[in-house]
Amino acid sequence: MTTDTGTAEAEHIPGIEVKPVAGHIGAEITGVDLAGELDDAVVAAIRSAVLRWKVVFFREQRLDHAGHVAFARRFGEPVALRKRGGASPPGFPEVETTADRLELGGRFGMEHDEWLQRRRHTLLRGWHCDHGARIDPPAATILRAETVPPYGGDTTWSNLAAAYAGLSAPVREFVDGLRVEHRLGVGYRSRPGDDSYVRHLLDHQVASLHPLVRVHPETGERILYVNGYYVEQIADISRAESTAILDMLLEQAVRPEYTVRFRWEPGSVAFWDNRATIHLAPGDNAHLGFPRTMHRVMLAGDVPVGVDGKPSEPVVGTEAGRW
Ligand SMILES: [Fe+2]
Repeated sequence: MTTDTGTAEAEHIPGIEVKPVAGHIGAEITGVDLAGELDDAVVAAIRSAVLRWKVVFFREQRLDHAGHVAFARRFGEPVALRKRGGASPPGFPEVETTADRLELGGRFGMEHDEWLQRRRHTLLRGWHCDHGARIDPPAATILRAETVPPYGGDTTWSNLAAAYAGLSAPVREFVDGLRVEHRLGVGYRSRPGDDSYVRHLLDHQVASLHPLVRVHPETGERILYVNGYYVEQIADISRAESTAILDMLLEQAVRPEYTVRFRWEPGSVAFWDNRATIHLAPGDNAHLGFPRTMHRVMLAGDVPVGVDGKPSEPVVGTEAGRW
């Protein structure tokens, strides 16, 4: 399936429209009831639009948990979250509900704000792909909104293929061969004395060595595979060199022209390619105190492969296919 045909295919399906919403990323798809029976042609059109536009949006949907999982299954294998069972509704290990995110700090004996501050090792820390420190990060995420604040709480995505293409040729050549360690909990500044979050991180270590430029398994595009959340260090160069280079690349990755921002409504669904994008969890709603309840289903993904054809390598706590 090629990326070029995405919009065209959808245009040939009566009643369905793929409307791009920004220059490099994001399209709204109208005329599809995700809770209904979807023809193979509709599924193919959605898949093409995701590959072409990296994130697609649907509004006024009426998916429940079962419908959400059934929709996801048309596109891949939903990940069953054995370890995160507490965040899943009973009977739906593939669904993760994110309403309780704001209480995470409390689990480690801290106010949420302190926990956030201790984790903020860079101003771009919130930018991430889902589970990027795993050896096989999810291929895609399908997120649906149940309850949203009246204002605040938008999500922003960035197109990492466009960000790579926007680098100058000599820099592209330089980064093509590099490898980067991605690690859960990178940059956390521990509390004096006993810190239960440090203990948690030591008990749940996850790290992988990923190519800095990965080749997309479906589109063949080169992806500037950086984020502000898991990226630890470029392999085989000094810490100082690595920090400067990663800062520059991350700034490139999230330049406004590569991004799209989405305003959620109840029933909105966003479906993104987690291999070709990073996204920014909202940081402007916690202080408002409005409820925000989202449900997420992720599709299993491949082990990334670099420009040289070599796959990522596990460092600790991660095994392909094992969640
Ligand atoms: Fe996320």
